[in-house]
Amino acid sequence: MNILGIETSCDETGIAIYNTEKQSIISEQLFSQASKHAEYGGVVPELASRDHLIKIIPLIKLTLEEVELEFSDLDGIAYTAGPGLRGPLLIGASMAKSLAFSLKIPSIGIHHMEAHLLINLLEDPAPKFPFLTLLISGGHCLLINAKEMGSYEIVGQTIDDAVGEAFDKVSKLLELGYPGGPLIEKLAESGDSSAFSFPRPMTNKDNLDFSFSGLKTAVFYTLKDTKFINKQIKANIAASFQDAVADTLLIKSRKALEETKQNELVIGGGVASNKYIRKKLVEGLKDNKIYFPPLERCTDNGAMVAFAGSFYLSNNNHAKNDLVRPKWPLSEL
Ligand code: KG4
Ligand code: ZN
Repeated sequence: MNILGIETSCDETGIAIYNTEKQSIISEQLFSQASKHAEYGGVVPELASRDHLIKIIPLIKLTLEEVELEFSDLDGIAYTAGPGLRGPLLIGASMAKSLAFSLKIPSIGIHHMEAHLLINLLEDPAPKFPFLTLLISGGHCLLINAKEMGSYEIVGQTIDDAVGEAFDKVSKLLELGYPGGPLIEKLAESGDSSAFSFPRPMTNKDNLDFSFSGLKTAVFYTLKDTKFINKQIKANIAASFQDAVADTLLIKSRKALEETKQNELVIGGGVASNKYIRKKLVEGLKDNKIYFPPLERCTDNGAMVAFAGSFYLSNNNHAKNDLVRPKWPLSEL
């Protein structure tokens, strides 16, 4: 079976084809609108919708052409139904539904965060359920007890900003640009992570929840109180902030592994592409098995949607038929 995956939840148009016999992604295309939104310091939903509309058909055609497939070679279509921005989601959903209708094949709406989680199962070795999952993206920071396919218990989550959102806001404060994560990571390479002592929010609390807005505020006041700011000081702030985030994720993940009695930690989402955070988690959790997707499959992409769709479509499970759900809790699959 060839499953077409369509991702349009935010500012990336991601298209891919997963082949169930080859058990691999056979073709994929990704167009990032990031540079378009950079001048506004964040994603402008209306601009994102328009760009998805322009790019989606050419990218689908290109994805097919790359492997010399025709539309008639497709057996099912998976698209991101939520969570995400309503307009962008609707572009992907209407494309998927109308294409599936005209080709007389099934379509299915996928939960974006489940797709971030499941893409780890495409790797070799792949994690086996049950395991603990840490999902760190622009909209989420979740610790999940993943019991089996489709059964996810949220054991910890952010009470305010998502972790990627914190990177983006701190990047704005440092006047680096958007998206902030990769820019902070780059600048932090030349910084001293012990130069500033930023808080590790909620790590002394007895629960598994996160909070990142105070950390962002700490950076704000540090900048305000520092009379002379040059590139080195900015690099030191970036490195110290990144270290505080990495430490917080490590402390909470360790606690969650203990509490859920899991030994394996599966990580996903855009922030998981941060090499400093990856290293810190691997070093800090030496007794556990840690899984990350390849760097390019941490941030939004069509491959994760096609792959997630293959599970549901192969099992004839077409139940998730809401067109889009911009606010879709992972616990309500
Ligand atoms: O998963 P994703 O592509 O989209 C959402 O589902 O939100 O994650 C995007 C987020 C952005 O906030 C971006 O700044 C962050 O992931 N990000 C990073 C890195 N690359 C992307 N954060 C830290 N370090 C990175 N290298
Ligand atoms: Zn995402």
